Amino acid sequence: MPRVKIAAGNWKMNGLAGSVSELDALIAGAAGGAEVVICPPATLIAAFAARARDSRVAIGGQDCHAAASGAHTGDLSAEMLADAGASHVIVGHSERRADHGESDAAVRAKAEAAWRAGLVAIICVGETESSRDAGDTLGVVGRQLRGSVPGGATAANTVIAYEPVWAIGTGRTPTLAEIAEVHDFMRADLASRFGTGAADGFRLLYGGSVKPTNAAEIFAVGNVDGGLVGGASLKAGDFLPIVAAAS
Ligand code: PGA
Repeated sequence: MPRVKIAAGNWKMNGLAGSVSELDALIAGAAGGAEVVICPPATLIAAFAARARDSRVAIGGQDCHAAASGAHTGDLSAEMLADAGASHVIVGHSERRADHGESDAAVRAKAEAAWRAGLVAIICVGETESSRDAGDTLGVVGRQLRGSVPGGATAANTVIAYEPVWAIGTGRTPTLAEIAEVHDFMRADLASRFGTGAADGFRLLYGGSVKPTNAAEIFAVGNVDGGLVGGASLKAGDFLPIVAAAS
């Protein structure tokens, strides 16, 4: 079975009520066979999900707490995201790992919380520039995969995003050969844990400075099943060609 590619947009801390016009343009313009997911800030999830109902655009959160409810001021549970209309949630983004000290164990618990609420977990991994310079890219990615992806992961409940930290928001990307090396490694690592058949089903996204100009060549790399896109997902005019490249 060929894997359906995914074009996922991570809006990070961007977007106000008026941004619904970008979602409308995306819904109107998205063509082709790729799955499309937009992860707006939490304040917009309910409005976006209502707008995107019965469209081909799915809505996701950018993080969730591991618990279903409780005394955690400022946090949101996966159940709350689902209740607001989300179907996906990003967990373990490098900005969460860096800004909030999230460990692999914390990310794993968040992925399990996502499943508990019926959400697809988009689990992020990726090396820093110093790790790459030290020749430890595969070591870091392997440790994060093992630590952050729970044993219950399936192709249906989990998407994995490889996002080199040094490529996020910088305009720099690894070479296609470097992307291929990491994605091939991730597929093989998943196969050693989950079996070849199961591992073949997982969608492995690349993220970090994906643009309309480089999306097609990146998505054509073997074992790259689409992208997780930050800056270039904010405007439908930028994101639509990326959606097309994933189709
Ligand atoms: P970028 O961000 O596309 O702006 O580099 C990607 C991400 O952090 O998911």
